[in-house]
Amino acid sequence: MAEKKTFYITTPIYYPSDKLHIGHSYTTVAADAIARYKRMTGYDVYFLTGSDEHGQKIERKAKAKGITPKQYVDEIVASFQDLWKLMCISNDGFVRTTDDYHVKAVQKIFRKLYEQGDIYKSAYEGWYCTPCESFWLERQLKDGCCPDCGMPVEKVKEESYFFKMSKYAPRLIQYIKDHPDFIQPPARTNEMLNNFLLPGLEDLCVSRTSFTWGIPVDFDEKHVVYVWLDALSNYITKLGFYSDDDSMYKKYWPADVHLVGKEIVRFHTIIWPIMLMALGEPLPKQVFGHGWLILEGGKMSKSKGNVVDPVKLCNRYGVDAIRYFLLREVPFGSDGVFSNEALIYRINSDLANDLGNLLSRTVSMIDKYFGGVVPAPTCPVPEEDEAIIALADGLPEKVERYMTEFKAPEALESIWALIGACNKYIDVTAPWILAKDEAKKDRLATVMYNLAESLRIVGIFLQPYLPNTAPRLFEQLGVSGELTAYEARGFGKLPAGTRVHKGEALFPRIDVKKELEELEKENSASHAAEASASAAPAPKAEEAKDEEPQELIDFDTFCKVKMKTARVIDCKFVEKSKKLLQFTLDCGEARPRTILSGIRKWYSEPEKLIGRTVIIAANLAPRKIAGIESQGMILSSITDDGEDETLSMLTVMEPDSIPGGSEVG
Ligand code: ME8
Repeated sequence: MAEKKTFYITTPIYYPSDKLHIGHSYTTVAADAIARYKRMTGYDVYFLTGSDEHGQKIERKAKAKGITPKQYVDEIVASFQDLWKLMCISNDGFVRTTDDYHVKAVQKIFRKLYEQGDIYKSAYEGWYCTPCESFWLERQLKDGCCPDCGMPVEKVKEESYFFKMSKYAPRLIQYIKDHPDFIQPPARTNEMLNNFLLPGLEDLCVSRTSFTWGIPVDFDEKHVVYVWLDALSNYITKLGFYSDDDSMYKKYWPADVHLVGKEIVRFHTIIWPIMLMALGEPLPKQVFGHGWLILEGGKMSKSKGNVVDPVKLCNRYGVDAIRYFLLREVPFGSDGVFSNEALIYRINSDLANDLGNLLSRTVSMIDKYFGGVVPAPTCPVPEEDEAIIALADGLPEKVERYMTEFKAPEALESIWALIGACNKYIDVTAPWILAKDEAKKDRLATVMYNLAESLRIVGIFLQPYLPNTAPRLFEQLGVSGELTAYEARGFGKLPAGTRVHKGEALFPRIDVKKELEELEKENSASHAAEASASAAPAPKAEEAKDEEPQELIDFDTFCKVKMKTARVIDCKFVEKSKKLLQFTLDCGEARPRTILSGIRKWYSEPEKLIGRTVIIAANLAPRKIAGIESQGMILSSITDDGEDETLSMLTVMEPDSIPGGSEVG
């Protein structure tokens, strides 16, 4: 028998510096759907995920908690693994960078690069961003902060080893030009070439001596290996690279795709391929940089804890509903917005109405008209039947084409096109009318068969995306076992005589109004609890007496002002105004907002504000200023010492963890 083709897919390995949120789940669910689809279409798949456990960030977090870094990561990594189990992630491997095989292989990689002269010892003087674990040159900083995340950087001056990235840059540039599919989507190729590779690569500092939580350089133990060199190696160490048994490496490497968030494409398409070139190993076939899942700043994001915690979401709405939302709603490669309203809408409209109703109507009618047995289709009416048969016959090709390009939303859309056509088919053929006329029994039988067969094909293609729902659908249709894509080729494979079993609704409808009210109530309760827990004690009477009398407002009045974070996409002078700046802001909404602010006096280089995360009052009525509609107000702090007014915009300290549109309060 011919050997199966292999398919190796990876997610990034996650930092256990925080609990995972729904955004992290997005990468893993997307990779899982691809892995499941490839398995179903006959590939021998290896799907790897894991945890990135070393580095200064983790050492500091553990210290703040008064525990060792290992204790710290052990606890969080266990919660990652539980989450993946809950979300039905079918990973074949889980790599931890503290695993022994990984540590040993990384030490060997470092030693080999050193011995062949690609790593050399020198001293590093420059800047380091701990949240990103990235080195930066003075000229690369943005307003003295990390150009990626906007956080303050730290001056680093220490003895270090350096990796001769510059030596390999021309080869990598050529490689990228010769392999247009290497970096996807294509726009990211230009970004890498123009922003990083073509301006010239510096050698990379690849060891640190100012902290110890890392893999020691085995020939110079005061150094630990730079965390990105350590982390990127996971993709091969888990396969046994540089171990006694590298059969998995031989079988699966090079990876078919590294699926990563857009902000870490740089590490995967510059440092990683250069490491592999220096080691004399093949490069991964593709690095796919997906967009982010961002939060809508509207009402429902009030209780961020509730909204973004994937465990809570899965427990409340079901794992498949969350998987469906993530896969359907986020255009692959671009950002997508999460909101409770959008999630509930998808559940009610796509899952409960379109899919759930189709199954329940079909099974009920087969029960009622044919005693629960799928009849044989003996009376075709081409003009009525052709539309669904053609859609069902074309589905395998369509899904294959989309999934080859990792476009899960489009694949789901084509499955839902068949579901929609089936619902329409019921309306057009009106089985309840056919059932009234004995002479039309054969036609009724054909309609029922076509519906049941279409649903079987739908079920086959739902397996990668909704792994809990597909078996429940098969069970009701009386179809057994996991089915491969082959079973969906050629309409008519469902044997007549199959016995259906009416079951529970696949997705109960959610009462939108009640659900939103309930969420709102829970949010207010958790906010009130937070507010009372963090409220400063009231000043004592005698301390307070000299202070200006203040008009107090109650909590509900305060809550009426909706403040949220906004990321500056663009900022420019308003022509003919000496005071105004015009901001374009990503507030986590469908479209960017425009806000005008009279702060030009303090910010004479508006382009420097691009990338900052600011705070806005979001529910002010829009008003026209200088002929332009301003949709809110940017918050600033202002002081006046009698001579000078000083103004500073309020910004977010950790913008990488707070996307535009996050609730402030
Ligand atoms: O970057 N939407 O780990 P990490 C979509 N350890 N994806 C998101 C997201 C969001 N809101 N938030 C995070 C690291 N992600 C390194 C990787 S690999 C050798 C080392 C994605 O835990 C993010 O884009 O910070 C990234 O791809 C992944 O989660 C892990 O992020």
